[in-house]
Amino acid sequence: MTKFIAVTGGKGGVGKTTTALNLGTALNGFGRDVIVLDGNLNNPDIGLHLGHSNVEVTFHDALSGDADIRDAIYRHTSGVRVIPGDIRGRKVKVKGMDKICKRLEGISEVVVMDCPADMGLSKYAEEALVVAVPETTSVTAAMRTIKKLEDKNITVLGVVLNRVNGDEHEMSVDNVEALLEKPVIGVIPESDDVRESQSIKYPVAYSHADSEATTGFKSLAAHLIGERYNIKSEKGIYNSFLRKMGYK
Ligand SMILES: Nc1ncnc2c1ncn2[C@@H]1O[C@H](COP(=O)(O)OP(=O)(O)OP(=O)(O)O)[C@@H](O)[C@H]1O
Ligand SMILES: [Mg+2]
Repeated sequence: MTKFIAVTGGKGGVGKTTTALNLGTALNGFGRDVIVLDGNLNNPDIGLHLGHSNVEVTFHDALSGDADIRDAIYRHTSGVRVIPGDIRGRKVKVKGMDKICKRLEGISEVVVMDCPADMGLSKYAEEALVVAVPETTSVTAAMRTIKKLEDKNITVLGVVLNRVNGDEHEMSVDNVEALLEKPVIGVIPESDDVRESQSIKYPVAYSHADSEATTGFKSLAAHLIGERYNIKSEKGIYNSFLRKMGYK
């Protein structure tokens, strides 16, 4: 049985694509069978993040009925499998999505869907992760998104706080959890490694094994699959970062 997990958020630019891609990469690193699907039809960025922007068959082609979704699956050199969208972001009806979900059934254990800030294709997922940055506007927008997801009976697994510096101007994990009434299950630091990895077209969780961002994504993946991932022994610095955030 394939599990569809939407990665969404309340606002644009908070790190939904970065999270979807690196969660997929970390799950793949744990030996899980995973596909990252570019579910952002207007701003399909997965291909751009990985250097797969000019593929022959895209998610848009499959959605419009012009191709089989199985022909739109590509394996990046990092090992993660992806279904890139058409970077032109052309208009396409989503009614083919039910058929696509059925065609993907059994092809992968998990399909991580990079979704836009509005509901978009999230409604086809059973579960969702909500990405926010630790600012009131972003977290309040995440609250509205959580409400919309739950109105559609989508289980919100938790919140991923991205671009965290740990300074006094940020919302604390406790405050975010209190406001959203959801657990923060991922804390990803602000890191130049993320931008650097994007410039070389690799997920940071693959190209920068020692990065604190990588540790954050691996911890998130481990949490989701109930895997033991000993961040204590692997990353002393990340651990003290989490403590500073009031996370542990
Ligand atoms: N933890 C991080 N540290 C540093 N930069 C980051 C981090 N996460 C994301 N970024 C940067 O923020 C920018 C936006 O990230 P991303 O494309 O993942 O956001 P998004 O929510 O998917 O945006 P959109 O709403 O346009 O789809 C990118 O340039 C990315 O490099
Ligand atoms: Mg995006």
